[in-house]
Amino acid sequence: MCGIVGYVGNSNCVPKLVKGLKTLEYRGYDSAGIAILKNEEIWVAKDKGRIHNLEDMIDYKDFVGTIGIAHTRWATHGIPSKNNAHPHMDQNKHFAVVHNGIIENYLELKEQLIMHGFSFQSETDTEVIPMLMEYYYQKDNDVFEAFKNTLNELKGSYAILIITPLLPNTILVAKKNSPLVVGKGNDGIYIASDIPAILEYTKDFFFLEDEEKAIINNDVTFYNEHFQEITKNAKYIDWEMDAIDKKGFEDYMLKEIHEQPEALGNTLNGIVGLDKAVRFVNFSLDKEYLEQLNHIYIVACGTAMHAGLVGKYSIEMLCRIPVDVEVASEFRYRNPIINANTLCIFISQSGETADTIAALKLARKRHAKTIAISNVFESSITREADHTIYTHAGPEIAVASTKAYISQVGLIVAFAVYMAEVLDKELELCHDIQKELLALPNYMEQIIENNEQYYELAKKIKNEHDLFYIGRGNDYYVAMEGSLKLKEISYIHSEAYPAGELKHGPIALVENGTFVFGIITDSNISEKTLSNLEEVKSRGANIILITNQNIKKEHVINIPNVHPILSPILSIIPLQFIAYFIAKEKGLDVDKPRNLAKSVTVE
Ligand code: G6P
Repeated sequence: MCGIVGYVGNSNCVPKLVKGLKTLEYRGYDSAGIAILKNEEIWVAKDKGRIHNLEDMIDYKDFVGTIGIAHTRWATHGIPSKNNAHPHMDQNKHFAVVHNGIIENYLELKEQLIMHGFSFQSETDTEVIPMLMEYYYQKDNDVFEAFKNTLNELKGSYAILIITPLLPNTILVAKKNSPLVVGKGNDGIYIASDIPAILEYTKDFFFLEDEEKAIINNDVTFYNEHFQEITKNAKYIDWEMDAIDKKGFEDYMLKEIHEQPEALGNTLNGIVGLDKAVRFVNFSLDKEYLEQLNHIYIVACGTAMHAGLVGKYSIEMLCRIPVDVEVASEFRYRNPIINANTLCIFISQSGETADTIAALKLARKRHAKTIAISNVFESSITREADHTIYTHAGPEIAVASTKAYISQVGLIVAFAVYMAEVLDKELELCHDIQKELLALPNYMEQIIENNEQYYELAKKIKNEHDLFYIGRGNDYYVAMEGSLKLKEISYIHSEAYPAGELKHGPIALVENGTFVFGIITDSNISEKTLSNLEEVKSRGANIILITNQNIKKEHVINIPNVHPILSPILSIIPLQFIAYFIAKEKGLDVDKPRNLAKSVTVE
């Protein structure tokens, strides 16, 4: 939620900040703005809407400076508007602030500041920050003291950058529960919510921990929560710039769908091989520990939660340990039963999802072992968990997740195989699954190559208003993910239902012509789902079947046959394409769907 970028150095910051914002646009795109220092004054350009609106309003000849901060917003407090766009300033124009997060006590602070004569221009929570800075600055005439006192007042989450003509070469930086990275480039120092925004300038990154601060000018000085100076080491991030390039594809989502075989291959590389048991680098669980486990929770949000469901299916089948998959925002508030015999696994592509991080903290407090699965090196979740396993999908830019999902599914299945092997269970099946895991990228390529048929189908469906996706077992979990993809990017309502459950209510919605996707990849239960499809067909539904079985129906999408534990990795691909092509046919912005953001750092 919200992306921020900052730069101080000896080049013009404006093109760098605009470029950085564009890379971070997946974090929010309701409004955007930049503040720079020029002639000892703060200059601001900001507007409602996408970053290109901001670009259009900037006079690049005049709007020039070597220090600046920038923001792209996902609205929480206050509608998307120019007034609510960041940066925000105090009334004396001493401080300009960009902020990602939520200041929970802003109403209280705002009231107090109004009583002290401050007047506000926006409905945002953020505006209290420059006002507080000014309030404290008026008291002590000391910017650093004002910074300390301001941070002491704030409750909630924040990544904050502040510039001020009072310290014309300095950016003040603070972080709590919202991500921030700092990188030293050849021509200056860069700060951003996320690595891709500044990857062009450096590969060595400093990751701020919660409540750490930084004062950045010619160099960067870090401070801990008590404002004592600390030393931090930079970490080298081995990402290439072309990983964040569209590489000739029309959209990031299409590119990322095509990258899925590679993403899966990279994720499993070094973990799964033919001649050995599944192994994780720097991480192991012993048999004694696994034998005393009475429960596993997999906790996540959105698509990552759907990957968790496939994890439940695999772990229960291979290890016979009960697994519950929970939406993080529910888990954290419902007093779950967790103790030292519970293993909690948290899946998050970004590693920054606020609810998932809070759920992880809760599990740790209750002495459960915690494992994070994340796609972003050194993301917040990885620093909170006892152990981390990374997916290596590479940067995922499109808001709707595709290659990260496939990698999460592959990894959690490999993890299930790993646990079963340690427990000495289902060894033959584990070996078969390992073999198939290695063959999957080739099968995925075949499905991707055949994408013309999905386009034809999309043209038929694009004007629909309600669809169903049904399946059993893992096929139901894929139905959920397929339905989510469609909602996210094409704005068409759809429901995913366990095939056998449809007749307990939702079948009442099936009319002549209603499209129903059926997913059948498990021969043991294929007859059952087929009967359910017949039930809707006899009520006039148009059935589209995705299957690896030899089934004759009017509209069948055939995919290669693999073990049902692994079938989600293949059966989801046609559904991703169909959602994508429908959105394109409707002329929608596939990569940045309305109201959504990729990284949800507020609860
Ligand atoms: C947002 C994104 C989804 C994502 C979910 C969880 O809603 O739009 O694509 O699945 O957050 O994100 P995470 O980074 O925790 O996997």
